[in-house]
Order: sequence, then structure tokens, then C-alpha cells
Amino acid sequence: MTDVVRIRGLDHRYGTTHALRGVDLTVAAGECVALLGPNGAGKTTLVSALTGTLAPTAGAVRIDGADPRLPATRRRLGVVHQHAGFPRTLSVRELVGGWAVRAGRPASDADAVLTEVGLQKLTRRRVTELSGGQQQRLQLAMALVVDPTLLVLDEPTVGLDIEARRRFWTTLAARRDRGTAVLLTTHQIEEAAGVADRVVVLHEGAVIASGRPADLTAQLPDRAVSARTVLREDELGSLPGVLDVAVVDGRMRAISGRAEATVRALLAADPAVTDLRVEGATLEQAIVAMTTQQLQEVVA
Ligand SMILES: Nc1ncnc2c1ncn2[C@@H]1O[C@H](COP(=O)(O)OP(=O)(O)OP(=O)(O)O)[C@@H](O)[C@H]1O
Ligand SMILES: [Mg+2]
Repeated sequence: MTDVVRIRGLDHRYGTTHALRGVDLTVAAGECVALLGPNGAGKTTLVSALTGTLAPTAGAVRIDGADPRLPATRRRLGVVHQHAGFPRTLSVRELVGGWAVRAGRPASDADAVLTEVGLQKLTRRRVTELSGGQQQRLQLAMALVVDPTLLVLDEPTVGLDIEARRRFWTTLAARRDRGTAVLLTTHQIEEAAGVADRVVVLHEGAVIASGRPADLTAQLPDRAVSARTVLREDELGSLPGVLDVAVVDGRMRAISGRAEATVRALLAADPAVTDLRVEGATLEQAIVAMTTQQLQEVVA
């Protein structure tokens, strides 16, 4: 598959803040990459370098082999920024229609995408008179209307209601399946895991993990063990393998490094246990484990 995005040795400093430290990243045509990481990890800085709005301190950023700061490169780039601004005087339809024309598409393409993002009833509304979630939908409409070869989305689901969020992930998967390369950042880790082919974890400006969502979760051996039991929290805490336990309304929930041993001891101590469940770690738990482990290494 051809790489649409190629980033090599990307480094950026804002004064004394070292926001990106030698990041390498590629996104292929038809691939969806989720860039995850805690607040301040450098995600928006990377997105700004990729969309040509920030000149990085060092490193190479290429979209289809070209510099993203050239207007021609950005013509078929669909972008949702974390902090968007809109021209004050235009209506929704004028703005999205104009955006289509700028990318060499007919203005009438705006109608289909405005329906796709659920703004079809607000096409005459001035863009400054939209709610937060509606502005987010508008950004998405602008990103989609250029028939993008690359979508770069910085926290695109912020402010969207449940229905709009579901629709967003469906739209994204459909575009990806039609060959669009997608790079998105989000804190909705489990939702992203459903669509992303690959997850890249950024922490303090550096890539600390990269892989398929299932492979990253498999790196975390811990399992969640939960059940209804008469045992007290301190008794459960001393069962083999238990790293952490809480009892809420008679239901215990433990994180265990040795789930089988925990379950055997639990059944021996309370044969009347009901509703026993053992679940694998979530991607969110895996990422929290990775980033806090890094923190400990920094502190140590
Ligand atoms: N314009 C700026 N001037 C100075 N420092 C900045 C600027 N923008 C970001 N930073 C700093 O650079 C680092 C990376 O910020 P960035 O916005 O890229 O993080 P992020 O991963 O997008 O975080 P979030 O999840 O909160 O959006 C942070 O330490 C931040 O404080
Ligand atoms: Mg950000």
C-alpha cells in the first residue's frame, strides 16, 4: 500500500517546551491510524505540522511526497482542528459549498455531506450561530466535502451527541474503506479501537507504542475479575494475583495479574459466588498502564 503520510524525525520546541521528540509515523491509503495519548502529549502539535499550519523545528513531513505547507498539497486534505474558527458572515451552505469549489468540486457536493453530518436543516444558518456540537459537524462537513485523500481529525467527536458520534465512526470507516487515509486523535479510546487499523501512543512528545488495538491490549496480562460474593474487601485483596479490588453494592471488581489463581481461591473461600466474570483488559487500561509506567520511569 502507498504511504500517504510520511513523517520522519519530527521535532518541535515551543521555547523551552520540547513538544515533539523525533517522531516517525506513516499512514497508508485506506488505513485509519488513531493517535492517542494524555493531555499535552504533542498530538495537536503533530497535527499542526501535518496540516501545514506549524513549521516544525526539525524533521520531514510529507503528504503524497509533497510539503503540506504548499497550498496545492492541502487541496484534498480534509481537516478537523481541535480549536476551529469560522468566517463570521457566511451561511453553513455558503461556507461548505465554497470549500468544495476551492478543492475543484461542484458547490452542490455540499448538500450530500451536510445531510451526512446531520446539518441539512441548518444550511441557511450563519456559522457563528451554531451550537458547539453543530460547529463540530460543520468542520467535519468541510473536511469531507473536498473528497479527501487524507483526513486529519484532531478530537473530532468532542461535543457530538451519542447519535452524531455513532454516525461519525460509521462515516469514517466508510471513507477509509474507499481508500482515504485517516489520522485522528481522540480521548474516546474504546470507540477509536473499533475503527482504527493501528494505534500510535504518544507520550511526552515521543511514540511509546504502535500496533493493532488487539496487539496492544494483549501486552497487558491483567484481567478484570468480578462477582457477587459475601467476602469483604480486605479478604478479596489478599487473594492470589489481586492487584486492586473494590466492592460496590455487593459486587466485587478486581484487577488481577493471575486471573485463574484468583478465581480458584475466590471459589474456595466463597463457594456461593454468583455472576462470576473474567474480562480482558481494555485498550484504555493498556494505554493508561503504558503512560503511567513511563511516568514512573521518568520519576525514578
Ligand atoms: N502555542 C504553544 N506555545 C507554547 N507551548 C505550547 C503551545 N501549544 C502547545 N504547547 C505545549 O506543547 C505540549 C504539547 O501540546 P499539544 O497541544 O500538542 O498536546 P495534545 O497532545 O494535543 O494535548 P490535548 O490532549 O490536551 O489536546 C504541551 O506541553 C503544551 O503545553
Ligand atoms: Mg490537542
